Amino acid sequence: MSLRPLLAATLAMAMVVSTAQAQTADPAPVVVRIAPEKTGPTIDRNIFGQFTEHLGTGIYGGVWVGPDSPIPNVRGIRSDVVAALRAIRVPNVRWPGGCFADEYHWRDGIGPASTRVSRLNASWGNVIEPNTFGTHEFMDFADQVGADVFLSVNVGSGTVQEAADWLEYLTADQPTTLAQERAANGHPAPYRIKYLGLGNENWGCGGAMSAEHYVEEMKQFAHYSRNLNPAQTGPNAMQRIAVGWDSGDADYTEAVMKAWKDKVWSWDIEGLSLHGYTIPNSWEAKGPSVGFGEDEYAKAIRATLKMEGWITAQTAIMDRYDPDKKVPLFVDEWGLWADPTPGSNPGFLQQQNTLRDAVIAALNLNIFMRHADRVKGTNIAQMANVLQAMILTDGDRMVLTPTYHVYELYVPFQDATLVPLSLNKGVYAFGDIVLPRMDAVAARDKDGALWLSLVNVDPDRPVTLTLPLPGSTAGARGQVLTAPAVDSHNSFDRPHAVEPAAFAGRIENGVLVFELPARSVAVVKVQ
Ligand code: AHR
Repeated sequence: MSLRPLLAATLAMAMVVSTAQAQTADPAPVVVRIAPEKTGPTIDRNIFGQFTEHLGTGIYGGVWVGPDSPIPNVRGIRSDVVAALRAIRVPNVRWPGGCFADEYHWRDGIGPASTRVSRLNASWGNVIEPNTFGTHEFMDFADQVGADVFLSVNVGSGTVQEAADWLEYLTADQPTTLAQERAANGHPAPYRIKYLGLGNENWGCGGAMSAEHYVEEMKQFAHYSRNLNPAQTGPNAMQRIAVGWDSGDADYTEAVMKAWKDKVWSWDIEGLSLHGYTIPNSWEAKGPSVGFGEDEYAKAIRATLKMEGWITAQTAIMDRYDPDKKVPLFVDEWGLWADPTPGSNPGFLQQQNTLRDAVIAALNLNIFMRHADRVKGTNIAQMANVLQAMILTDGDRMVLTPTYHVYELYVPFQDATLVPLSLNKGVYAFGDIVLPRMDAVAARDKDGALWLSLVNVDPDRPVTLTLPLPGSTAGARGQVLTAPAVDSHNSFDRPHAVEPAAFAGRIENGVLVFELPARSVAVVKVQ
């Protein structure tokens, strides 16, 4: 059954504000209301996960420089990148792809450097993949960052046995031949694998399988990819994540959930994925990542708000088979996908990252947090040098992007408890594009402190925002991210052009009042 009509209706409800409203001036302050005594679901910290693929300079250059590099590194992994990622408390990193995962053979990337197998990276630019960065290097990287790991096994061009062997190699604590090989390669103790992706986009680059075909394959991978680490039982058990929704098509979600409802004892899944990218224009001509005007800004914001409809539609399917929400949703690829930087290898998916990316990151993170009862993890694409990156590197230089700074601001929301919130979002209109102007989320951290995320999408108009907090006599303090233009960005020459600044809200007769700048993202703690 196609869910496109449902999707269209959901999107219409979620995003479109009537033109009549748009044409009226919008002078009234935005009123935010919360019910501080009510609690929503926990915002799983894995909503703030990362994704790194063997794609362009995502790994080679972005993470791996090799132990002999003059760039400061620990066992070949660059220290500046690790320090930056530690600062945003990355909960998990997904690897090795993406499309690359379905052409990755793990044995190519273990053992002494001299025995690593070189191949062409056919998914991304046909460059040589030296496999210098393999299983042990990735596990070391995740360990240095303090993140859990999310591995994707090769369903498209690998075998069930190959995946089963990889899991045994990684996790067996008994002295099997594979466990001994792991020990000989430097890691006697079994590794811990938090998430296991059962393929990637198998409707497309992962083998162009029909949903029914994928389900049959997936069941075998789910059964035989055993985690043998005795420490990974009960609440620490590895979660297997099946391939779900392609942002245009619900077939996989329907087929996987139907199979899951009727499953037999020998297989299970603990997650279903959704991939949904923000494409400002079309897949063929996506639009520039920098040097754009308000039209491209408005189109990108409109495109990114589709995420709300995708999650709502996917949840509706999942609820039919799984009303108790036992299978979490993982949005394990999302982000702004623009045209490649002129002059770069188009297969490397390099793009600049601007204040527009920051607004997009905040809007999506807010959507995920509002759906925290079903969404238990997401992975932005991608961590370094690819698509909507946190980090850009050039030789020994590193730049933190506006998107990075949003992740930095949002750290207090990791594992916080959602607090129900409502607001009159107002209207931002550009030509015939009519969008909500404001967005906000409230949550309580483990110490009971109340945090607010406030987003002003409007590129020109600041907004006065009020939040009644009867009895409160203190204000709110935090940081705001804004910049002179929607395409303001950090470059290697001006790495600090877009950075958070101090921001506060005042209390007036029991009402918190914020003057939120145009085109901004703010996070504050209510004092
Ligand atoms: O993130 C880039 C690519 O986008 C991934 O490899 C693939 O899964 C998706 O289509």
